[in-house]
Amino acid sequence: MPLAANDFELVRQIVRDHVGILLDSWKTSLVETRLSAIARGEGLAGVDDLLNHLRSRSRSPLSTRVVESLLTTETSFFRDVHPFEALRQFILPDLIIQRQARRRLAIWSAGCASGQEIYSVAMLIREHFPSLLDWSLQLVGTDVSSSMLAKAAKGRYTELEINRGLPAAALVKYFEQHALEWQIKLEVRAMVEFVQMNLAGSWRALPKMDIIFMRNVLVYFDVEKKREILAKVRRQLHPDGFLFLGGAESTINLDDDFQPTYFGPAVVYRLRARVGEAA
Ligand SMILES: C[S@@+](CC[C@H](N)C(=O)[O-])C[C@H]1O[C@@H](n2cnc3c(N)ncnc32)[C@H](O)[C@@H]1O
Repeated sequence: MPLAANDFELVRQIVRDHVGILLDSWKTSLVETRLSAIARGEGLAGVDDLLNHLRSRSRSPLSTRVVESLLTTETSFFRDVHPFEALRQFILPDLIIQRQARRRLAIWSAGCASGQEIYSVAMLIREHFPSLLDWSLQLVGTDVSSSMLAKAAKGRYTELEINRGLPAAALVKYFEQHALEWQIKLEVRAMVEFVQMNLAGSWRALPKMDIIFMRNVLVYFDVEKKREILAKVRRQLHPDGFLFLGGAESTINLDDDFQPTYFGPAVVYRLRARVGEAA
């Protein structure tokens, strides 16, 4: 039976309350499929039982499972290529000079999903900037989804996930095969810390970042939430830091303090120079 409009509204409201995202109204059948799977997995009589539970307890482990099942967690290694080329050719060489005295660098993948983005950064550093391994180097991945974070921390990927964007040489050098899956080596996993954090809620205490990857996340929020999040990004970024957004995202008409800067085909957002502020 198709999901009734008021049931869809209930789930939509719960998702909004938990993670600040407003589900598109065309996602009714996706919601129904996910609710059915969860109801079956929980041994409930059906979707109605699950909806009754959600009606009585909008904050519970089960409601969290429902919300997590509705998040888009699509990602891949070296996604879109150009940001990583910009990192290799321009941004990291520049930051290495700027931060030479302090020898400290912090990079954040906000909305890291299953970890491919921040592991791509870690592999790029090992491959092209090994001297950074002697610095105080903080690579942080955060996501609201506990299941995504568990997968990210494990660093185990299927053949399909490996085949999306990972160069063969990197697979050979940085992964170990376990039956049909591949696990990123401990030396790379140990470079990254994964932390649960809701971008729409109050943020955890994180170090000031030199580079923030917040790609393919803002797109799910309404304008007001995007502005709120970008204002917090501004405070989390060193004044001379770099922000990467997804290809369909921009700060334009949302936050004038950010200025798009081009490194070849890659767009990076930088804070407009502010008098009196230092890196
Ligand atoms: C499409 S994935 C993007 C992954 C990666 N950044 C990339 O571009 O490949 C979006 C991720 O954002 C996460 N997300 C959605 N809402 C969030 C929120 N309120 N706080 C933190 N993470 C959130 C989802 O769980 C998902 O893992």
